Amino acid sequence: MSYRQNIQLTPEKNLKHFLAIEGLPRAVLMKILDTAESFSSVGERAVKKVPILRGKTIVNLFFENSTRTRTTFELAAKRLSADVLNLNIAVSATSKGESLLDTLSNLEAMQSDMFVVRHAQSGAAHFIAQNSPDHISVINAGDGCHAHPTQAMLDMFTIRRHFDDFYPLKVAIVGDILHSRVARSQIHALTTLGANEVRVIAPKTLIPVDITSMGVHVYHDMQQGLKDVDVVIILRLQKERMGGAFLPSMQEYYQTYGLTEEKLGYAKDSAIVMHPGPINRGVEIASSVADGPRSVILKQVTNGIAVRMAIMSMTMGTAGQGASA
Ligand code: CP
Repeated sequence: MSYRQNIQLTPEKNLKHFLAIEGLPRAVLMKILDTAESFSSVGERAVKKVPILRGKTIVNLFFENSTRTRTTFELAAKRLSADVLNLNIAVSATSKGESLLDTLSNLEAMQSDMFVVRHAQSGAAHFIAQNSPDHISVINAGDGCHAHPTQAMLDMFTIRRHFDDFYPLKVAIVGDILHSRVARSQIHALTTLGANEVRVIAPKTLIPVDITSMGVHVYHDMQQGLKDVDVVIILRLQKERMGGAFLPSMQEYYQTYGLTEEKLGYAKDSAIVMHPGPINRGVEIASSVADGPRSVILKQVTNGIAVRMAIMSMTMGTAGQGASA
């Protein structure tokens, strides 16, 4: 049993924190997907709200930039009727030298119930969960190169909406695997949910040396790697995490690994194209593919709201109330 499993689950095996996919059983991942399914219709109602987290206070703590994750967490919390506080780190007392733990103690003193944390340091969300009082749940909104578990779950939700079942699926993840917290969480989710085959496709410099221990097949050639796949997940080059030169040039990268319509032709005709965002057009993906009929990139964003509602309500122990509440 991993340390993450101990801290993420209650003794009754319910979700307490959501820090990483690693160590969570298939049943918990399936419950997140099923609960998200029940919340997905809330966004289509005239009044996009259910009273499930009424009276709860959720604090968004984003120490790193975000567009999709921060806003969909905020929307998800509001649709659950929670009170949401977005701490603006740039103008907070953190810039005056206050330590992370002192900032958290002050937020705890405001009777918060949940922290949603994005941080450039791997392990930051786990550290916060370990140092928070029992009544607080912590959700990891992306920590360094380590994990982005809510992104992985919204990706799994999007895949299940298209294919119903994970068992027959071949999935290829293309791009900067080395620096990607999203890829790590997706691989754990896909293998836990029983996908037939998970492939990673990238130049040798962008693949971690021990990646096969995660149960994936490694390819350096797009034609071979995309052959017969059902799902193509494209990742951006995480330039902010690259300490040195990993690639000869962006042009050469696009020529070899950029997903064009021609390269998408190597996958199954029914294959869908995914990207967690932000996308860099003309670097890892052609505009005609990103905006094309097989792209589900914007559906991933919409699905992120229902999935985050599910995870927040499960960690607060209120998921059973359902979307009809
Ligand atoms: N996918 C993702 O994490 O995007 P943001 O950085 O905009 O949150």
